[in-house]
Amino acid sequence: MAQGGQATRGAYASQSEMTELILPNDANTLGNLLGGRLMHLIDLVAAMAAYRHARTHVVTASMDHIDFIAPVHVGDLLILKSRVNRGYRTSMEVGVKVWAENAIEGTHRHVASAYLTFVAVNAAGVPVPIPQLLTEDEEGERRFQDAGRRREQRQAELARRRAAGKLSTQP
Ligand SMILES: CC(C)(COP(=O)(O)OP(=O)(O)OC[C@H]1O[C@@H](n2cnc3c(N)ncnc32)[C@H](O)[C@@H]1OP(=O)(O)O)[C@@H](O)C(=O)NCCC(=O)NCCS
Repeated sequence: MAQGGQATRGAYASQSEMTELILPNDANTLGNLLGGRLMHLIDLVAAMAAYRHARTHVVTASMDHIDFIAPVHVGDLLILKSRVNRGYRTSMEVGVKVWAENAIEGTHRHVASAYLTFVAVNAAGVPVPIPQLLTEDEEGERRFQDAGRRREQRQAELARRRAAGKLSTQP
């Protein structure tokens, strides 16, 4: 337990991985993976990491900074890895990195990266506090610091959009 009795959890405890075989039903007219399908898989693998860290229900609050670096082809194996980079009171940033593997050639390429924010909620959908994230090595510390910088930018953008009424639930 951290100071004040807040529970803690190591960064590696949230690490999650998924592998998918890309089939024609996942592809666009060029035979490449659809961006929307990739975003769905990114959301899923990120949710797994958030769920493992929070150990309660989690909802996606935002997905920012997604880079589609290279196309993924039908027949590729898609490998997605996620980890909680930093936790706050009820929200956490999850980093996702995606590779495509050509199993015939035995090659891998980095195809996408994304950062998502999840909020831990109770069964009624009300935000609830999460354990404090403990960094366990230099890489974890770098991710933690970088996430802090992104949070500052995200909060400023959120405040700007709220003030402009863009996040209102009114029609
Ligand atoms: C995410 C959600 C629970 C936040 O509820 P809220 O009433 O705005 O809650 P709060 O203002 O108390 O904020 C709670 C936390 O969410 C964070 N948050 C809220 N909106 C955010 C956004 N757009 N991006 C990033 N973080 C956000 C806040 O910074 C806060 O984090 P902290 O407690 O760690 O400091 C609510 O907006 C929601 O249920 N959205 C729909 C989620 C969903 O259905 N996702 C699936 C897509 S269909």
